[in-house]
Amino acid sequence: MEETPDRIIQPEQRPDDRNDLALRPHMLDELIGQNQVKENLKILIAAARRRNEPLDHVLFYGPPGLGKTTLAHVLANEMNVNIKITAGPAVERAGDLAAILTNLHAGDVLFIDEIHRLGRAIEEVLYPAMEDYALDIIIGKGPSARSIRLKLPRFTVIGATTRLALVSSPLRARFGAVYRLDYYDMPAMRKIISRASGKLNVTMDEDGVEEVARRARGTPRVALRLLRRVRDYAQVKADGHVTRNVAGEALNLMNVDLLGLDDVDRRVMMTIIEKYNGGPVGLNTIAASISEEPDTIMDVVEPYLLQLGFIDRTPQGRVATRAAYEHFGIVFPETNQPRLI
Ligand SMILES: Nc1ncnc2c1ncn2[C@@H]1O[C@H](COP(=O)(O)OP(=O)(O)OP(=O)(O)O)[C@@H](O)[C@H]1O
Ligand SMILES: [Mg+2]
Repeated sequence: MEETPDRIIQPEQRPDDRNDLALRPHMLDELIGQNQVKENLKILIAAARRRNEPLDHVLFYGPPGLGKTTLAHVLANEMNVNIKITAGPAVERAGDLAAILTNLHAGDVLFIDEIHRLGRAIEEVLYPAMEDYALDIIIGKGPSARSIRLKLPRFTVIGATTRLALVSSPLRARFGAVYRLDYYDMPAMRKIISRASGKLNVTMDEDGVEEVARRARGTPRVALRLLRRVRDYAQVKADGHVTRNVAGEALNLMNVDLLGLDDVDRRVMMTIIEKYNGGPVGLNTIAASISEEPDTIMDVVEPYLLQLGFIDRTPQGRVATRAAYEHFGIVFPETNQPRLI
């Protein structure tokens, strides 16, 4: 995926997120929000424990920064097993995966991030490993080549992806459980920020918490990043205490608006609203108008705008909604030509 640098609200990891490790929940009960996923996981864990078996293979998908990696660690902690971490692009040859698999111990979790980026040949190695705990190795070349089957310990694959559609269906079928992570609601966001503020030694009014929560795009990673920047601001300008005003000023200074939209979001919305009369307009056209990659718009910008209900996706293209016009203070054109919403 193309990287868009310098977005304080970008949901993907940035170098300044390095301190997040200390804030990461370790057990399921410390994990805030995602209640439905949590309930399902509790059952999955209890069942595996009762049968004295490793956890079923689990696939997490959803936008960046919502806790897929965190959940993989939490599951390993809950099962009290080791976790080995790799990522789709890191496994270049089938032999790389074979080496990882043969080093696993019974019960271990193998976390494969960006699993949609595994090559086909590598997936082929993974199928029997996941299904039968077996590794097929070809020895020799030509007519004398033969295949031998190595037994692997029983282990668990936890996969994570931001693009479920790009996970091949045979691979997807090997996961016993598939969970979608969604944006966090406001109560969960407030709790995440309050808890982190304690660990970051910053005091906050409830209103201050609310202000950061509202602008963090339903994404814990963004919330933690904004919180750290707000803390800096408060320490320099306001004796270290975060009120609504302090949080608001700090975030305005970073060009993050009341709903967490930044300049890139605004340019996308203004392209649809002003340049294309509210749409419909195709994604590639929008991308070209603001000199961004279509992939960036689709993966990073659009999901949150859809979540806010600011754009609708129609077969003809993207359409700006009334809510979007209102947010940007532009009159909604009631008597427009028949709009295709
Ligand atoms: N439910 C939660 N409660 C508290 N903090 C959370 C929660 N979920 C995630 N976080 C925090 O948010 C940050 C991002 O989470 P994580 O790295 O797990 O996201 P991710 O979904 O793996 O993102 P990516 O797709 O970019 O890999 C971490 O610092 C983590 O501590
Ligand atoms: Mg991750």
